[in-house]
Amino acid sequence: MDKAQVVLKVLTAEDCEQVRLWRNESLVALRTPYFLTKEAQHDFYTNVICNRNARARFWGIWTDEFIGMCGLENIEWENRRAEISLILSPNCQRKGFGMQTMQLLLKQGFLYMNLDNIWGECYLSNPAIHFWEKIIQKYNSYSTRFINTKYWNGEYSDSLFFNIKRSDFTNESFVSMQCQYSSGNY
Ligand SMILES: CC(C)(COP(=O)(O)OP(=O)(O)OC[C@H]1O[C@@H](n2cnc3c(N)ncnc32)[C@H](O)[C@@H]1OP(=O)(O)O)[C@@H](O)C(=O)NCCC(=O)NCCS
Repeated sequence: MDKAQVVLKVLTAEDCEQVRLWRNESLVALRTPYFLTKEAQHDFYTNVICNRNARARFWGIWTDEFIGMCGLENIEWENRRAEISLILSPNCQRKGFGMQTMQLLLKQGFLYMNLDNIWGECYLSNPAIHFWEKIIQKYNSYSTRFINTKYWNGEYSDSLFFNIKRSDFTNESFVSMQCQYSSGNY
């Protein structure tokens, strides 16, 4: 059977509430390591997702069901850069959906939002670090180590910072893949 294809869709308030439950289970991976209440997530939905002037864009990640949320945040329009945000349902991890999503997210950032640099930071204490090492390798992007960026359970850990340039993306002809949206979701 063919592998399910990921598409990006508009994010609903219900999707966002589902994401809150997943992210509250993975505080070790977060720069903001505290539980979010339903009300706080609703504020985020109203003030960021629904605000066209917010310095962030988020999408729902779908196969035949909602499986995650991705976004470009901390957008600096003058510097033409933004930071990656990505979370998948625990049931949908390690199935190749993260890799597929990154392709669609970078395509949005570089080819539709006219960004030049898209960056990310992952704590070395997060098991997802292996995923980001694969992303850095795939796009042949710059990376470096930041020291003592995360304090958790009595210890500091370092993080991996990486930056994907628009040319890293276009050079590899990744753009030939169609960015898939399902119709009628906007
Ligand atoms: C990080 C995340 C987005 C990765 O998405 P994913 O769909 O699980 O990753 P994929 O299945 O596309 O994996 C791609 C590659 O990374 C590797 N990988 C992914 N997660 C890994 C892990 N936890 N440990 C080791 N390797 C991992 C896979 O083995 C795969 O390598 P391969 O192509 O050689 O087989 C997802 O696991 C997630 O949402 N995690 C929780 C939230 C989080 O940590 N977000 C990032 C904050 S910095």
